[in-house]
Amino acid sequence: MNETMKTILERRSIRKFTSQPVPDEVLRDLAEAAMHAPSGKNLKTWKFTVVSNREAIQKLAEAIRVASGREHYDMYAPVALLIPSNDRESVYGPEDDACALQNVFLAAKSYGVGSVWINQLRHVCDEPGVRAVMRGLHIPDNHVVYGLAALGYPDPAAPVTPYRAAGEVEFIR
Ligand SMILES: Cc1cc2nc3c(=O)[nH]c(=O)nc-3n(C[C@H](O)[C@H](O)[C@H](O)COP(=O)(O)O)c2cc1C
Repeated sequence: MNETMKTILERRSIRKFTSQPVPDEVLRDLAEAAMHAPSGKNLKTWKFTVVSNREAIQKLAEAIRVASGREHYDMYAPVALLIPSNDRESVYGPEDDACALQNVFLAAKSYGVGSVWINQLRHVCDEPGVRAVMRGLHIPDNHVVYGLAALGYPDPAAPVTPYRAAGEVEFIR
């Protein structure tokens, strides 16, 4: 089995991170991986915002917590976020951003960095308190977020949900 295939098969969502920072060079490569994702009609109406500032991550999590009426929310306390945003009018925005995120997850895995898709921001990204924080991160007002990558080195003590085989594959020859 080749390395790419191994990376794909061994990636799992990681929900507990150590406090070790992810080096800037790695974050830059993850953004590069996102930029190289396929894009419907090659429109690439996306922007990728990489956040490694602890206070900024906490501020975003807190805004999401308040907007979604939760008691506790910390996005699993990652050390970095990669946030694809996309023009709300873009016809392929959700698909493009999902492709970009999967590139990020796989590239992260190849560097030993754990990742998980965070969905909550999509539901509240137009709430004023959340939008204000997004504005502070220079995410354009005409952009929405469908999902983001929480990133960090996996806590070796934390259990990882094993792969669940489901769905059907059928070969017609
Ligand atoms: C569209 C989408 C939304 C997701 N949202 C979340 C989320 O908000 N929080 C979370 O912990 N995992 C989230 N996940 C991760 C899935 O729970 C995970 O991929 C699934 O359980 C399979 O596990 P694996 O990634 O380890 O293979 C999301 C995945 C996708 C594709």
